[in-house]
Amino acid sequence: MSSINYSEKIPNNVNLAEDRTLQRALEQWQPNFLNWWGDMGPEGSQNFDVYLRTAVSVDPQGWAQFGYVKMPDYRWGIFLNPAEAGRKIHFGDHKGEDVWQDVPGEHRANLRRIIVTQGDTEPASVEQQRHLGLTAPSLYDLRNLFQVNVEEGRHLWAMVYLLHRYFGRDGREEAEALLERRSGDQDNPRILGAFNEKTPDWLSFFMFTYFTDRDGKYQLCALAESSFDPLARTTKFMLTEEAHHMFVGESGVSRVIQRTCQAMNELKTDDPGKLRAAGVIDLPTLQRYLNFHFSVTIDLFGADQSSNAATFYSSGLKGRFEEGKRQDDHVLKGQTYRVLDVQNGQLVEKDVPMLNALNEVLRDDYIKDSMAGVERWNKVIEKAGIPFRLKVPHKAFHRNIGTLAGVKVSPEGRVVSEAEWNAKKDEWLPSAEDRAFVASLMGRVAEPGKFANWIAPPVMGINRQPIDFEYVRFN
Ligand SMILES: [Fe+2]
Ligand SMILES: [Fe+2]
Repeated sequence: MSSINYSEKIPNNVNLAEDRTLQRALEQWQPNFLNWWGDMGPEGSQNFDVYLRTAVSVDPQGWAQFGYVKMPDYRWGIFLNPAEAGRKIHFGDHKGEDVWQDVPGEHRANLRRIIVTQGDTEPASVEQQRHLGLTAPSLYDLRNLFQVNVEEGRHLWAMVYLLHRYFGRDGREEAEALLERRSGDQDNPRILGAFNEKTPDWLSFFMFTYFTDRDGKYQLCALAESSFDPLARTTKFMLTEEAHHMFVGESGVSRVIQRTCQAMNELKTDDPGKLRAAGVIDLPTLQRYLNFHFSVTIDLFGADQSSNAATFYSSGLKGRFEEGKRQDDHVLKGQTYRVLDVQNGQLVEKDVPMLNALNEVLRDDYIKDSMAGVERWNKVIEKAGIPFRLKVPHKAFHRNIGTLAGVKVSPEGRVVSEAEWNAKKDEWLPSAEDRAFVASLMGRVAEPGKFANWIAPPVMGINRQPIDFEYVRFN
C-alpha cells in the first residue's frame, strides 16, 4: 500500500487501476488541471528545469526524491498514509465506534463542504504567487517558490481524489469548480478572504508561507483526526509536505531581518529613510507586514462562536489540534471556553459553550505556535544587539470575521475610534508607500550563489546541495 506506482498516468498508492470508472474520471480531470497550471501556474516557467523533490513513497523515512523536473511534467499524484488497523473514532458523539471508510449519508453535505473549502485554498495560493518567479532574490529562493507551488498543486489533487472517489456527480462538479474559481476574481473568487489577497512581493510571500501556510497546518491537523478515514489519511500525508512551506516562510523572514540588522549596524542607524536608501527593509515595515498577514490569517479560522464548528466536532468530521494528546472527555458537552466579546464598545472576556467555540480553540493554538517563530526572529535581532522586538498584534486587531469585526482595535488591543484608526492605520498596516518601496527592491537575481541586497543567504542549501548550486536552469 505504501509504494507509489509511477508507471500509471496518475501516480498513486490507492490502487487506482482497480477502479476503472474512477480512474477514467480522474484522467479526464487531469488535462483540465494541466490547462489550469498552464494558465495560472508560475508565469513564464514552463521550460525551466527545477531541482524539485517529488514524493516517491509515504514512508516517513525517505519519502521524497530530488532531481531536475520541468514543472508541467511534475508527477502530481494521489498519496494516502497507510490505514491504521482497527482505528476508532476518538472524539464526538460517535467516540469508540469504527472510523468510516465511506461517507455517512447524514454527513455528506458537511464533509463535502469541508473538503471543497480546503481544496480551494491550494490552487488559490498558486494563483496568488504566480508572478513572484519574475523577481526572485536568488535561484535558491526561486526553487523554493516552485516547490511550494507544485506541492499546493498536489494538495489540490489530494482533495479532488476524495471528491471523485466518494461524492459521485456533485464531487466531480466541485472538482471542476476548483479549477474555475480564481484568486481575487470579482465574479468568481476563491472561497476564503486571505486567498483573494495579492501576494505582490517576496516579503509578502515569506509572511504568507509563515502565517498562512501555518493556518493550513492547523486545518490539516484538525482534519487528520477525522472519523472519515480517507480524509484523515490524505491530510496526514499533506502535512509532511507542508512543513517545508512554513520553513520557507520562517527562514525567509529571518534572512530579511538578518540583512536589515547587518545594515543597521554597519550604518549605525535605525532611521528607516537611511535604511531604505541602503536598499534594505526597515524593521517597522516588517512589523506592519507581520500585522497584516497575521490578522488576515487568523480570520481564516472562522467566527469565534459557530454552531457549524460544534456540529463538525460532535459528528466526528473535524477534531481539535492534537486531539489524541488532550486529557479531557473528547466530547466537550457542558464545558466552556473564554472568548472575547464587545460590550459598550469595549473588549470583555466571556465564557461560552466550548463546542461552539472550537474555531477559537484552534485559532488560539495557532496563535501560540506563530508567536514561537516570531520569538525566533527576535533572537536574530537580539543577537545583532538591536533594541527592537517584533510583536504579534492583539487578536482583535484588524479583524473582519466574527464578533471582533465590529470594532477597531490597535495592535496593543486598545479599542480606538474610527478617526484614530484612520489616522494611525498606516503605522499599523503596510501603507501604499511601504508596498511601493518593497516592490522597488524586487528584481530577479539569477546567478547561482548570488542574493538580492535585501536578504541574507540561507545557512544551508536544499538537500545538502551547496548554496551556489544551480537550483533552476532557465534553458
Ligand atoms: Fe497546501
Ligand atoms: Fe502549503
